[in-house]
Amino acid sequence: MSYHPDGIAPHGGQLVNRITTPEQRQEFLSKADFLPRVQLDERAVSDLEMIAIGGFSPLTGFMNQEDYDRVITEMRLTNGLVWSVPITLSVAEEVAAPLKEDSFIRLDNPAGEYIGVLELTQKYPYDNTHEAINVYRTNDPKHPGVQVLYSQGSVNLAGDVWLLQRHTHPQFPNYQIDPAESRQMFQAKGWKTIVGFQTRNPIHRAHEYIQKCALEIVDGLFLHPLVGATKEDDIPADVRMRCYELLLEKYYPHDRVILAINPSAMRYAGPREAIFHALIRKNYGCTHFIVGRDHAGVGNYYGTYDAQYIFDEFKPEELGIVPMMFEHAFYCTRTKQMATSKTSPSNSEERIHLSGTKVREILRQGELPPPEFTRPEVAAELARAMQVRVNP
Ligand code: ADX
Repeated sequence: MSYHPDGIAPHGGQLVNRITTPEQRQEFLSKADFLPRVQLDERAVSDLEMIAIGGFSPLTGFMNQEDYDRVITEMRLTNGLVWSVPITLSVAEEVAAPLKEDSFIRLDNPAGEYIGVLELTQKYPYDNTHEAINVYRTNDPKHPGVQVLYSQGSVNLAGDVWLLQRHTHPQFPNYQIDPAESRQMFQAKGWKTIVGFQTRNPIHRAHEYIQKCALEIVDGLFLHPLVGATKEDDIPADVRMRCYELLLEKYYPHDRVILAINPSAMRYAGPREAIFHALIRKNYGCTHFIVGRDHAGVGNYYGTYDAQYIFDEFKPEELGIVPMMFEHAFYCTRTKQMATSKTSPSNSEERIHLSGTKVREILRQGELPPPEFTRPEVAAELARAMQVRVNP
C-alpha cells in the first residue's frame, strides 16, 4: 500500500463533523424548552460524541433499520462500506411512543443537561437475541456486552445527530485529541505510517513489546486507550492513564509516540470489535492497527486469534487500514526477554504471562506484579491506586 503525504482517507472518504456551528447552536438552544427529550446513558453520550467528532465516520447519526440489519448480518452499511458493530440509540417503548418521526429530539446527558439533537427519521423494534448472537457470538446474559444489550430499551431511534458543544474532557484535557487534530499532528511530525493501539487495561510488558515491535516498522505510535464506559471490574481510566504517563516518560522515545484518549465505550465484542476499533483508528489517521491476542475479548467467549481471523473476511482496500497481528507475548526466562512462540524456543514453564484477573488478584493481596510482567513504576502506581480505593 502506498501512503499519501496528506494522510490516509477516513472511512467513507470524508471526516464527519456533527458539532453545531454557533448559529445552529443558537437555534437549537432557543428550542430547548419545546423539543421532546430523550435522556442518554453513558454509552450513548460517547457514541454521540464519537459521531460528532468523526471518530465513527461515515456515520452521521444513529443507525436506521436498513443499516442496522445489514451491519448485524453482513458487517456492512447499506452503501456497502464495512461496519461491524451497530451504533444505535435504544430506548424503552414508553419513551419512543410519543416521539414523532421527522421531528427534532433534544438529547440530554445522564445529568439532564442538553447536549445534542437527533433528527428522528425512524423508530424500529429490534431482536436483541439476534443482535447478541451475531455481534457477540453468544446470547449468554453474563457476557458484559450482551448484558448491556439485554438491559437496554426495545426500540431504536434513528437519525442524524448534532453535538451542541465539544466540551473539554474533565479528567484528561491534555489528551483529548480529536480525529481532525490527530491527522494534523501526524502530518506536522512528518509521519507517513502510524500504528494505532487500543487498550482498556493497565499497560504491561506484552503491550509494550508489541507496540515497540510495530514501532520498529512504522513512523509513529498512536497510543489510544479507551476511556469510555467499561465493565465494573476493569481498572479505572485515570489509573491507566497515569501508568501510561509513567511508562512513556522513562521507556519510550518521546518524539515517536502520541498518547490520546479514545472516548468510546467498550463492547467486549471480540472479533467484530477489532474491526470496529481498526476503523475508528483509520478515522484518527492511523495507517496500521495492532491486533494481538484475544483483542477486545472477555472470559472465554472468543478463540485467542478470532479477532485476527476476522480480517480475512474483507479485502485490504475495503478496510483501508493494515492490521498488525501479534501472537501471545510473554517474558521468556530462557532468553531473558519478551517474546512469542514465533521467536522463542522456550517451553511453557519458561514463559511468564499473567491474566488481568490474576494481576488484580495479586494487587488485592497487597503484592506487586513481577517485573517480568509489569515495569516497576507501573506496578507501584497500580498498587498505590488499589490502596487508595481500598482505604480512601
Ligand atoms: S482490549 O480489550 O482493549 O483488546 P487489552 O488492553 O488487554 O484489551 O489489549 C490491548 C491490545 O493488546 C489488544 O490488541 C490485545 O490483543 C493485545 N494484547 C494484550 N495482551 C497481549 C499479549 N500478552 N500478547 C499479545 N497481545 C496482547
